[in-house]
Amino acid sequence: MKYALVASLILQSSVALARTLVPVHIFAPSPDHFRPIVRNTTFDFGCRAVAHPTSDGKYKLHALLTEDQIEYLQNEYKSVDDISIRKDPARRSVAATAPIGTGDRFKNGTVTPVGLGTQPSGTKISTIMNVNEIPSAVQALAKAYGLVKFDLPYKTFKGATQWAAYVGAGSDKSKYHLYFSAGVHARERGGPDQLIYWVADLLAAQKAGTGLTYGKKSYTNAQVNSVLGAGIVFFPLVNPDGVAYDQSSSSLWRKNRNTKSGSSGGSVGVDINRNFDFLWDYPKYFDDSAEPASTDPGDETFYGTGPASESETKNHVSMYDSFPKIRWFLDIHSAAGDMLYSWGDDDDQSTNTKMNFLNSQYDGQRGATGDSAYREYIPSTDLTNIKTVSSATIAAMKGVGGRSYVSKQSVGLYPTSGASDDYAFSRYWAVPGANKVYGFTMEFGYSTNFYPTLTEFNSNILDTNAGFMDFALSAISVGLE
Ligand SMILES: *[C@@H]1O[C@H](CO)[C@@H](O)[C@H](O)[C@H]1NC(C)=O
Ligand SMILES: *[C@@H]1O[C@H](CO)[C@@H](O)[C@H](O)[C@H]1NC(C)=O
Ligand SMILES: [Zn+2]
Repeated sequence: MKYALVASLILQSSVALARTLVPVHIFAPSPDHFRPIVRNTTFDFGCRAVAHPTSDGKYKLHALLTEDQIEYLQNEYKSVDDISIRKDPARRSVAATAPIGTGDRFKNGTVTPVGLGTQPSGTKISTIMNVNEIPSAVQALAKAYGLVKFDLPYKTFKGATQWAAYVGAGSDKSKYHLYFSAGVHARERGGPDQLIYWVADLLAAQKAGTGLTYGKKSYTNAQVNSVLGAGIVFFPLVNPDGVAYDQSSSSLWRKNRNTKSGSSGGSVGVDINRNFDFLWDYPKYFDDSAEPASTDPGDETFYGTGPASESETKNHVSMYDSFPKIRWFLDIHSAAGDMLYSWGDDDDQSTNTKMNFLNSQYDGQRGATGDSAYREYIPSTDLTNIKTVSSATIAAMKGVGGRSYVSKQSVGLYPTSGASDDYAFSRYWAVPGANKVYGFTMEFGYSTNFYPTLTEFNSNILDTNAGFMDFALSAISVGLE
């Protein structure tokens, strides 16, 4: 073997080793105990940091850490009795998780995808779609049902043409009110599949004049027609460069693959879900105690080089221009088992209209939760509306008959800046003439289990698809205009 090749293999394996992430559980008596830990942006808390109550009255925080980081934390909290740090005993090898499909089951857009809601109970989908099968699946839906797949204006860093699709309300784009996206965080496997199989179910059921069944949840043909009639726009693969990389490396990759700010290891890429133009420049807008994103390219929440600096973000935003009457937006993520509603930068309040994200008087004060120095304004009618839809969504997911989910405000344990859901809602105030969009984040799956087992992958399809149905039905009943 040539020296250069040996050297490069050694280099590759040490890079791979350095990024080996171990699922870790951190236990404490209250969510507040986690605040100093979640502030450290060098740690990876999954999609967002979430404190889960445990059966013995404590709280558990999931993280993905390197051996060095585990040692650092264990040392740091050695003499703190309240806090314990343990490797997840149930962690599993990549080999135990659902495989990624090889080839193209949709034969270049000629074999129509069929979801679980139109197949006999117990049917299983045996692999996760590979990055090339995702557009092929949607192309096949276009061929079978006349759904429209179209290209978006900006190419990704790796040169991929991005695309999205719309269906259900004819050719007038102002009749489309529901917007779904998935595949923002590369490692959150199964999100694109869930969305595409759901649209496939709706179209198959409409054509056959039937309803849909997900576990113990059933929907009538009239409900199917009503959901399609609300006009569905979807962008199922927001981060194709990241997904391609994650699927080929199984490295739990989150960001895109832009090398402008860093070209090796973990310094590659921007977190698309911290790159939107909502309080993006967080060192200016937030209190010093809050770390809603990171300015360090080496961190998982690196915010990029400017608001909407990334093509994926720009394409996401272009959908609001193309479909000016979008009213409800859902971004599909994993893994925590929750449905998050606005706002994500600080606690909500409905009394002081002046205390809002546009008011520079409050710069430097946002993001410290549990206090009254700053809380984000939300009209009380809007808060009622979004809580109604969020609760209906998790009730349906639970109604499938598997696990339970929680609905909560997205700020939770830890604020975010530049996230897609807050950006969606903020447009009404920040962008002249913009429609009001209610933005949500769904986190399917079990905490930090980004790579589901095959059983979990199929349960996630059933749970989310029932969730999407009730999200849409509840949105329709609250109002589309
Ligand atoms: C954050 O954690 C790293 C270890 O991953 C440590 O070296 C660093 O000092 C911590 N930063 C702060 C501000 O505590
Ligand atoms: C796949 O289908 C497209 C049309 O949808 C066609 O342009 C392309 O050549 C096909 N590719 C292959 C490899 O058959
Ligand atoms: Zn995510």
